Amino acid sequence: MEYQNLLVEIKEGIARITVNRPKVLNALNDQTMEELRVAFLDLRRREDVHGILFTGSGEKAFIAGADINELATQSPLEGKDRSRRGHHILEIIENLGKPVVAAINGYALGGGCEIAMACHIRIASDNAKIGQPEVKLGIVAGYGGTQRLTRLVGLGRALEILLTGEPISAHRAYEIGLVNAVYPQAELITQAENLLKKIIANGPVAVKLTMEAAIHGSQMSLAEGLNLEANLFSVSCTTEDMREGTRAFVEKRPAKFTGK
Ligand code: COA
Repeated sequence: MEYQNLLVEIKEGIARITVNRPKVLNALNDQTMEELRVAFLDLRRREDVHGILFTGSGEKAFIAGADINELATQSPLEGKDRSRRGHHILEIIENLGKPVVAAINGYALGGGCEIAMACHIRIASDNAKIGQPEVKLGIVAGYGGTQRLTRLVGLGRALEILLTGEPISAHRAYEIGLVNAVYPQAELITQAENLLKKIIANGPVAVKLTMEAAIHGSQMSLAEGLNLEANLFSVSCTTEDMREGTRAFVEKRPAKFTGK
């Protein structure tokens, strides 16, 4: 697929997806959402891609939300369909089986905050402003914001962000655990790449199964989650990566993982 609104580059096992609509601060129209669906599914299949860096173009915005021009004319049924399509695409990202790091390089509002929360790790530039301003438009957050924000930062903090509609600073987002780190903007992409390089140097099957255990386990009771973990631990014990990783430790050399 030729992308109109995305830039996709692949280098040394890391794919960088950049949402590229700078004139509207990278707002997510339906076309961009469809391109994201196709791009993430494609990267999931590709054997030369082990991790994904997700960001926005320019120095002002990561993603300033869903495209308000499209929201303005939607009927209730179209709104529900749009919300469900968004949920589906964000679930593809969350369950990709490869680590996705959001590099939040400016405004991450509404759908921008929501898509970042579907990524596995978020880091932000010090100028970033993050929030869920939907109530200011008279609507409810529709791409998972009422659910993932609550789970990430707790009900009280999530409700403050969701009900005031006011964005928070990158440093406040760090304090409440919404982002893992804050960097000067000029360093953000390098830091995201370094983080991904560390992750993809590890056993690919172990990385994939660990994400599955943590993400699915966090939606279960502790007993169910521990059972899932034991089963996935057992699966990891069948892999060549496990044999290579443990042997390399004993032989005091770096492991050469094959993802098998
Ligand atoms: N959808 C569509 N267009 C958007 C947009 C969005 N979510 N966010 C920004 N834009 C457009 C603006 O309309 C403007 O277009 P114009 O140049 O044709 O007038 C352009 O992007 C630049 O935005 P502008 O508002 O002029 O920049 P700013 O620096 O004054 O303010 C924001 C930046 C992010 C605070 C402001 O654009 C904003 O509040 N955006 C909407 C955020 C939002 O509510 N998102 C949730 C949607 S559910």
